[in-house]
Amino acid sequence: MVVNAALDDAGRVSTSAGVAIRLRGLRKEFGSVVAVDGVDLDVLDGEFLTLLGPSGSGKTTVLRMIAGFELPSAGRIELGGVDVTNRPPFDRDVNTVFQDYALFPHMSVHDNVEYGLRVRRVERVERRRRVAEALERVRLDGYGDRRPSELSGGQRQRVALARALVNRPKVLLLDEPLGALDLKLREQMQVELKSIQRDVGITFVFVTHDQQEALTMSDRIAVFHAGQIEQIGSPAQVYERPQTEFVAGFVGTSNLLAGDAARTVLGRDGTWSIRPEKISLAELGHAQTVGVRSAPGVVREVVYVGDVTRFVVDLDAGGQLVALQQNLNTSSSDVVAFRGKRVELSWRAVHEFEVGSAVVPTSDPLAASREPLAAELQGTPGTPPAGGA
Ligand SMILES: Nc1ncnc2c1ncn2[C@@H]1O[C@H](COP(=O)(O)OP(=O)(O)OP(=O)(O)O)[C@@H](O)[C@H]1O
Ligand SMILES: [Mg+2]
Repeated sequence: MVVNAALDDAGRVSTSAGVAIRLRGLRKEFGSVVAVDGVDLDVLDGEFLTLLGPSGSGKTTVLRMIAGFELPSAGRIELGGVDVTNRPPFDRDVNTVFQDYALFPHMSVHDNVEYGLRVRRVERVERRRRVAEALERVRLDGYGDRRPSELSGGQRQRVALARALVNRPKVLLLDEPLGALDLKLREQMQVELKSIQRDVGITFVFVTHDQQEALTMSDRIAVFHAGQIEQIGSPAQVYERPQTEFVAGFVGTSNLLAGDAARTVLGRDGTWSIRPEKISLAELGHAQTVGVRSAPGVVREVVYVGDVTRFVVDLDAGGQLVALQQNLNTSSSDVVAFRGKRVELSWRAVHEFEVGSAVVPTSDPLAASREPLAAELQGTPGTPPAGGA
């Protein structure tokens, strides 16, 4: 559950009511390295917020500062409206799930999960009850007597989760918890993790560099770049309305038209982004070009991926666009035959978005983009729902 709050462009709310975590001017230097460079962020109660960004962009450092394992060089951290900037980790109502799970190898699954409750001197009957409940929630009832070494990677991951959940923290911090799992298991765990979060109503701050994972699970995504938040918004906003070239390129295929190509094809100046799945491709002369934008070009590369095919097209106007087509009636040999062919690309003008090099503030960015987005995304299979505020 996410409370309704008016968020500004930087993802900040005006009051502290309903805010689980508040970061202001957060900065961290390691010697001459600026790992985190002025982060402002409000995470709402019960929200699933993802920090998404490339390696080295500062995600883990932000998480470690929220948990108290690292002290900021500057700035302030509030949890539930209380300034905890200088408090030690044990004095903060947060739990962390690390990428390597950090289970105690010599203890059973039951004892691993129980550990936090023992430290807090919760009495025995209550401990039993809560461990059983946590193991059941991650579907590991019956595994209590095993050692971590007797479990699969996915099961270990769930023990780590149960061990954090059993303490019923207000906030759970997860640093790439699914990174070690194979693709199938990762996709299963994404769904499970999301439904557990919905059930327990704990605020999740989830770190990943996998854009698909971020789009699948999050209420909102904060896109990190060089220690700063470059854009924050719902998955649909970040994907469909990237505000900078970096976001357009990192969350999906960037597909930019700029300079002469933009002037010739779109009749406009600036840098414009069109997502590959919004672009249709047809042999020259066979395209429906009435009422849509279109551009001729030559297929430079064809990448067959089973369910879809990516066509990389050199436009006559200069520049390059990728078009993603479902393989409804085509086989791999059909699509490969397109290499070198002259084709016509077409798309609806509504799917062109101007991207800048910096975040462009508007008075109410959520309201501005939610309505048309919601309508656009209706019935689009596989597109995450517009979550967030
Ligand atoms: N203890 C440290 N001492 C020195 N530099 C550090 C330390 N921890 C992190 N850094 C540097 O700070 C920057 C941010 O690191 P951080 O671990 O936060 O990135 P990240 O976004 O989590 O990356 P990844 O996706 O690879 O985990 C990097 O340049 C890193 O080398
Ligand atoms: Mg990291």
